Amino acid sequence: MTNFNQVYDRNNTRSVKWDALESVFNTDDILPMWVADMDFQAPQAINNAIIERAKHGIYGYTTIDEDIEDAIMNWLEERHAWPIDRSWITYSPGVVTSLLIAIQAFTERGDSILIQTPVYPPFSNSITAHERNIVTNSLVEKDDYYTIDFDDFEQKLKDGVKAFVLCSPHNPVGRVWTKDELQKMADLCVKYDVLIISDEIHCDLVFSDYTHIPIASLSKEISEQTITCMSPSKTFNIAGLQASYLVVEDSNKRNTLIEHFDKQGLTQLNTIGNIALEKAYTDGGEWLDELVHVLEDHKNYVVNRLEKETDLTVTKMEGTYLLWVNCSSLGLQSEELHEFMIQKARVGLNAGHSYGEEGSSYVRINIACPNETLIEGINRIVTAAQNKA
Ligand SMILES: Cc1ncc(COP(=O)(O)O)c(C=O)c1O
Repeated sequence: MTNFNQVYDRNNTRSVKWDALESVFNTDDILPMWVADMDFQAPQAINNAIIERAKHGIYGYTTIDEDIEDAIMNWLEERHAWPIDRSWITYSPGVVTSLLIAIQAFTERGDSILIQTPVYPPFSNSITAHERNIVTNSLVEKDDYYTIDFDDFEQKLKDGVKAFVLCSPHNPVGRVWTKDELQKMADLCVKYDVLIISDEIHCDLVFSDYTHIPIASLSKEISEQTITCMSPSKTFNIAGLQASYLVVEDSNKRNTLIEHFDKQGLTQLNTIGNIALEKAYTDGGEWLDELVHVLEDHKNYVVNRLEKETDLTVTKMEGTYLLWVNCSSLGLQSEELHEFMIQKARVGLNAGHSYGEEGSSYVRINIACPNETLIEGINRIVTAAQNKA
């Protein structure tokens, strides 16, 4: 059993979450509950393998071999009921890199690309960085639960969208899309010949009543229309090691993608990232099952407290470790709300408006931390909200 209640001091480790507070929030006197990494150690099996490798002391160029591919293939088949062919896998330092390169490879300047807001900000940034146009299919919120407006989705595709960047499971609204929802989105993309770029980085962080379905696993036709971006980085807290991969069945698309990665010099993973990627998928399963229970308990704890002790409401969360909290009862929006959380609650959260204008009265709270940190953070938010009322 892993002790997920152990508190580690992450200060002075060059942690973005802990060491960049002054530059991001203009103060370091806050409790950080923002950036999507966890305050837990990675599984011991990963740490041991890295230490073992480090004892060798030589860090020359490193290949990716069949053992790594086997680990990925087994993981996807066992955990996500998705049997894939070895040849469909290709590698990338990170999922955001993959999104950027896929957009560059398969669309042209001025093309329209669809996203479902509020959504992880690099989705918009990746589109504008390549001078493509953002088209939004806003998610519909009712009673703290988000669904898709399919009429609007179809209309946007009809109007001439080239690609759709799907976030599945969705950050920040916490939805694990159902088979029916995925099927409808995929069928429409096939109908209008729209490329699906599916970011499934949160696929393993799904609560007990839900199942993640890779959109490409729905049918061969859908798979051939899809670029799937995956990674063990969120799941096992190894984002700093920069090892991720893509699954692309269609060989033409895969070759185009690889050509674009090559043109940027992105041809290999780092030595330690390779090890972590393999170990995560071969030896990390038990740790992950424990983690998901802990995250679900954390979610229940926060929902209970915020809803009993404040007028804040929490979006129904089916997966991820990112809680999307509606703060409209505070009567504050955007920057004012963000500043309130910094100045009054003394917590560092992600500001809702950075996910799109739909998020202006929301904050995103990262609950992947030990109990002690979580309780302290929630105490601060509750007290500030009560004092504001
Ligand atoms: C939906 C989503 N995609 C991508 C990333 C980042 O991926 P990477 O660090 O592999 O670029 C995150 C991190 O929070 C995320 O939530």
